[in-house]
Amino acid sequence: MSVDWEQRYQLGDTPWDKGAAHPALVDFLREQPLDGAILVPGCGFGFDVRAIARVENDVLGIDIAPSAICGAESAAKIAHEHYELVDLFALPQRLRGKFDWVFEHTCFCAIDLSRRADYVDGVASALKPRGKLLAIFYLDPGRDPGPPFGVTTSELDRLFNSQFELLREWIPARTYDGREGRELMRILQKRS
Ligand SMILES: C[S@@+](CC[C@H](N)C(=O)[O-])C[C@H]1O[C@@H](n2cnc3c(N)ncnc32)[C@H](O)[C@@H]1O
Repeated sequence: MSVDWEQRYQLGDTPWDKGAAHPALVDFLREQPLDGAILVPGCGFGFDVRAIARVENDVLGIDIAPSAICGAESAAKIAHEHYELVDLFALPQRLRGKFDWVFEHTCFCAIDLSRRADYVDGVASALKPRGKLLAIFYLDPGRDPGPPFGVTTSELDRLFNSQFELLREWIPARTYDGREGRELMRILQKRS
């Protein structure tokens, strides 16, 4: 059964919302701030968007739940970040080929398993040629049934390899409580 994300927000049934950006994203940004145009699909209340935002970049958080976008927009502004009600599976033409980076965190694991190839297509279509995906993949959410839905490294390879080159992967040193050892970070570059 597909999830009614808007209803989950309206009911306050949002266990994924930790009230802070992912610690591994914060660590990564300390070493390598993201520049250019950045897309955060499934941004929820936008904590990761605001962690990435700086005067030198332009971050767009998209989500299909109006209440998530409304909550994100009500947060204090950091720099040029903004939010839009947009479906990653139906990206408008103006957002295609526009981004230097996409940041993934708990969008891929939230979508239906049957739409994973569409997720890869959506991210690839948002990126410029040679644009990069910085991803925190939830390998083992330890829940049955999902969402969140887990994924294996071989499935990630199978899904992404035709459109992306794997540049780097690592296990994040810091994460939210309870997710230790369950996530994998990757940087993938769109093939030209
Ligand atoms: C598990 S929540 C994670 C939210 C946020 N990343 C966080 O960690 O707080 C998944 C989010 O993806 C959004 N979402 C689901 N399908 C989407 C789609 N096709 N396009 C954009 N957002 C989507 C949902 O509305 C929800 O806000």
